[in-house]
Amino acid sequence: MERITTTEAASRLGIDQAGLTRLLRQHKNSIPGLDSEEKDLLPVEAVDQLAQLVRNQGKAGGAGKQLASVIAVTSGKGGVGKTSASVNIATELSLRGHRTVLVDVDLGLANAHILAGKAPGKTLFDWLGGRAEFGEIVVDGPGGMKMISGGSGVKELANLDEKGRIKLVDAILALRPHCDVVILDTGAGIGSGVTDFVAAADHTLVVTTSNFAAIADAYGIVKVLVQGGYRKPLHLIVNRVRSPEEAEQVFKKLQGCTQRFLNHELNWLGLLPEDHSVEGAVLQRTPFCEAYPASVVTKYLKKVVSALERYLPKRS
Ligand SMILES: Nc1ncnc2c1ncn2[C@@H]1O[C@H](COP(=O)(O)OP(=O)(O)OP(=O)(O)O)[C@@H](O)[C@H]1O
Ligand SMILES: [Mg+2]
Repeated sequence: MERITTTEAASRLGIDQAGLTRLLRQHKNSIPGLDSEEKDLLPVEAVDQLAQLVRNQGKAGGAGKQLASVIAVTSGKGGVGKTSASVNIATELSLRGHRTVLVDVDLGLANAHILAGKAPGKTLFDWLGGRAEFGEIVVDGPGGMKMISGGSGVKELANLDEKGRIKLVDAILALRPHCDVVILDTGAGIGSGVTDFVAAADHTLVVTTSNFAAIADAYGIVKVLVQGGYRKPLHLIVNRVRSPEEAEQVFKKLQGCTQRFLNHELNWLGLLPEDHSVEGAVLQRTPFCEAYPASVVTKYLKKVVSALERYLPKRS
């Protein structure tokens, strides 16, 4: 029986290693040969069956439906505006008619619900601990979106083990037939608590400011992702800038390094300016695009969302 390496299999399927591991886990009992003892080699026939399955799911969403796009919002450095961007992008997408679910996977330090003015109620912590059904932790958010909170001040969540993260990623992917977009607001950094969620996404938005350390750390997370096998689109948002030129310089720097040293594309998604409306909206516990619809930051947010919409499947 002809066998190929898992690297070759992942490349044939057009997915990364983490995606392959997930598929192998899901289908090892239904496709003969996938539960082989030889962990690094897979039978070609089994890989072909898996590819067919992925193609069918892509066409029909497994049950005649199109699957939602999963979009991770991440950064190397903390505090650069991921949550602010995630909440406002999710709100604006919802207002434009995309059925959007925002999952706060900044586990243990989740705060998206605060910006959205929602009490989290039960959280992922309750679901992981068996104290709540998944449906019970989904709450209504601004613009008509749905939100799932990661729980705040919960050390057990911050230290969630690999088994827990796999369970959570599977639950996130199971949302796909039921909505159009899933936004994952991740924590900062390059740990598995961030990269495991990014690996499951179809698109990743990297957020940075023009601060030197933030740019260096943005390159750090891109490098870790690409070197870890991430092959899906990466997009950049430059936040808190004082001019479009400032944002463009940051993008060019990061794009140049990503192309030259990592041989991967970094797409320009847009900028968000430094704007007092952002803090004002936080104080009102309302997304800035709702609290200050005429602000400059909202104008640029709309451009970012329009750029993002070009990557989303057309709604029927
Ligand atoms: N464009 C902006 N203009 C002014 N203030 C902003 C802007 N974007 C974000 N901020 C402020 O920066 C702070 C950090 O933002 P936010 O919490 O969204 O960052 P984060 O990347 O999610 O942080 P963490 O890494 O801790 O999760 C907040 O006080 C927020 O209001
Ligand atoms: Mg955050």
